[in-house]
Amino acid sequence: MTDSKKSNNGPAFIEHNKKTYELPVYEPSIGPKVIDISKLYAQANVFTYDPGFTSTANCASSITYVDGDNGILLYRGYKIEDLVENADFLEVSYLLLNGKLPNNKEKKQFDASVTNHTMLHEQMSKFYTGFRRDAHPMAITCGVIGALSAFYHDSTDINDPLQRMIASRRLIAKMPTIAAMAYKYSTGQPFVYPRNDLDYASNFMHMCFSVPCEDYHVNELLSKAMHKIFILHADHEQNASTSTVRLAGSSGANPFACIAAGVACLWGPAHGGANEAALNMLEEIKTVDRIPEYVNKAKDPNDPFRLMGFGHRVYKSYDPRARIMQKTCHEVLDALKLKDEPLLQVAMELERIALEDQYFIDKKLYPNVDFYSGITLRALGFPKDMFTVLFAVARTVGWISQWNEMIEDPEQKIGRPRQLYTGDIDKEYVNIDNR
Ligand code: ACO
Repeated sequence: MTDSKKSNNGPAFIEHNKKTYELPVYEPSIGPKVIDISKLYAQANVFTYDPGFTSTANCASSITYVDGDNGILLYRGYKIEDLVENADFLEVSYLLLNGKLPNNKEKKQFDASVTNHTMLHEQMSKFYTGFRRDAHPMAITCGVIGALSAFYHDSTDINDPLQRMIASRRLIAKMPTIAAMAYKYSTGQPFVYPRNDLDYASNFMHMCFSVPCEDYHVNELLSKAMHKIFILHADHEQNASTSTVRLAGSSGANPFACIAAGVACLWGPAHGGANEAALNMLEEIKTVDRIPEYVNKAKDPNDPFRLMGFGHRVYKSYDPRARIMQKTCHEVLDALKLKDEPLLQVAMELERIALEDQYFIDKKLYPNVDFYSGITLRALGFPKDMFTVLFAVARTVGWISQWNEMIEDPEQKIGRPRQLYTGDIDKEYVNIDNR
């Protein structure tokens, strides 16, 4: 197994049909050991069963590490807190893609190269007019990203490292333009071209909020907050959308198609759609006195309602991104003189009550990154249906870094899970007239 060694504690054994099978165990640089079951079917004629991959590693990766019990998130070994405090989004993008922080010269070159790709082929703007004005911007974003492969053929050969590098930079550069155009289209305002003299986050805000008839100055504090939000969402190891990108890419599909698949997966309310759902929930709760009613609904086993922005498959303690997001939320609301925003009061009180409640303590349910991001993004001026699109803008670098890692992995195979078949067997075909 790439970059990994066998555990000093020896192999694992599995007993089946009175036979014992020896399974290699690998030692990660940090985290739980990994039992290799890849030969089990060939040797013992059995599959393993793990819906939702709760105990299954699908790949070896050196990009991102999440310690869910202790609330730790590392990008290429660096703590998320350090990166958010000290780096900008493109510096973090370089890190995720290349495995090391750039020096001054490398950073300048990378920024220039991404910046040079911010424009979209002019013909692509015609795509937008084919959508209804009230289409969800995630639907538009997903469609337009998929269409990139029809415009940039010169970077779809996945076996050419140079083309892979160009496609990666194109995706990081064009994603904000695609997202901002989806927003502009929904408001009926003209598209705004990127400005290459602005940094990544400021340019995105410029494309979303400026109009041709007056000057628009990006507030530095708010663009700094935008960088932080992008960094927090840049990667999160083998989550649902990233695994989708890897699975799509495992068949040899081009990177634009793979990222479109990732966007589609991210849209769901259990994943990237949770920030929109969390803000909807806070708006529905509306006042602090109604919180207990919603907490009780969330605890009721017969009610499907869940506290949106709470709980995480991996974090069984406070999500470190949520802590930073909460701080950023306060900074943004302070800067915009919105400190008394009623939804913030509801959010803080809901968090306080839930964290003291035995149900949430027992199930280890803590606020996740989406709990405070909705309030922050709304204060920055984004409508709710843009929240998941912003997540997709940020996550594109994570997806493409993971995709590159997969393509370069000599052990990469087409993704093909097995199943526990529970359907009928030996049925005889009955003619339609006799059914
Ligand atoms: N509110 C109330 N109860 C919850 C919540 C919640 N938000 N989340 C989990 N639970 C309960 C479940 O009902 C379940 O209870 P049970 O054991 O009595 O059946 C238990 O906690 C475990 O829940 P699972 O769904 O099995 O946990 P899983 O790891 O599969 O789900 C998930 C994680 C999907 C994030 C879940 O916590 C959830 O739906 N949260 C709300 C949506 C959300 O905020 N998603 C954002 C995730 S972060 C991201 O994508 C960036």
